[in-house]
Amino acid sequence: MSPAAIAILERARRSEFASALIEGLSHAQKRTPAKFFYDAAGSALFEEITELPEYYPTRIELSILRDNAADIASFIGSNAQLVEFGAGALRKVRILFDAMTKPRGYVPIDISGDFLLRVAETLEAEYPHVCVNPVVADFTQPIQLGPLECSAMHRVGFFPGSTIGNFTRAEAVSFLKSARQTLDNGPLLIGVDLVKDPAILHAAYNDAGGVTAAFNKNLLARANRELDASFDVGAFDHYAPYNPVSQRVEMYLIARSRQRVRLAGQTVSFAQGEAIHTEDSHKYTLESFRALAAEAGYAQRKVWTDAGALFSVQWLEAA
Ligand code: AVJ
Repeated sequence: MSPAAIAILERARRSEFASALIEGLSHAQKRTPAKFFYDAAGSALFEEITELPEYYPTRIELSILRDNAADIASFIGSNAQLVEFGAGALRKVRILFDAMTKPRGYVPIDISGDFLLRVAETLEAEYPHVCVNPVVADFTQPIQLGPLECSAMHRVGFFPGSTIGNFTRAEAVSFLKSARQTLDNGPLLIGVDLVKDPAILHAAYNDAGGVTAAFNKNLLARANRELDASFDVGAFDHYAPYNPVSQRVEMYLIARSRQRVRLAGQTVSFAQGEAIHTEDSHKYTLESFRALAAEAGYAQRKVWTDAGALFSVQWLEAA
């Protein structure tokens, strides 16, 4: 993709951000889609989160991948093209490539064009025999990939990090369905965070250093930067309780005082204590995720987990 094409997508994304924000903040329960957390500043804050002592998912998922790399590679098989939904952590995909027999291709899909190109270049330099084809796209939508190339014989999806947890149940099912299409009915290796002691979840989303709070508030800062909005970022509090009934961490920004905010030519009012619902992070049991996958036509063929059963990496095959 050319820099000009990426610039066009960048502008389209900005206006998508504006309309999503205005739409979300017009509801009685104000809300914003989680995918807008990840501008350059937000992606850097998320990288910081992954290194926090309280934030177990990244660390545990990496150890599951490392401890089971050979077994996972045997499921992937030889001559595979890996299709990654989101292109955050090269650390994870490297573990797979290092264990795979004749890896042929890597297709990272991400909305952040600049970040994606950096990721792609780094990987290409490290694995000169793997054909890297980055795709700038919103992976929550179905994507038409080109034909297999560079001697790749089949596609395998990779969706780590429990990013699927950000989706509602219905969105998760429709994501899995569209991923299955994108992959020509190929298998999907997916990271899924598990239901656990609420105290562990609470700590993970309310870290002592306030990095998660900064990540949450960056959404407002981003609106100020990109949309010339007038959020007083310091006038909002981070609030992230675990809801054991819906089995998800719910993340909010709470207006500390009554205020009015200018946003893309409109004015949005907040009452004192009013909440913006910014993210849900769903947790699953192995059974509840098996049922969800089945609704999308995927069978849960294998599950790898850690000794504490905090996190899972699952192999799904078209049923
Ligand atoms: C990237 C969606 C997996 O839900 O744990 C981290 C995002 N939000 N801390 C998660 C996040 C707050 C993260 N995911």
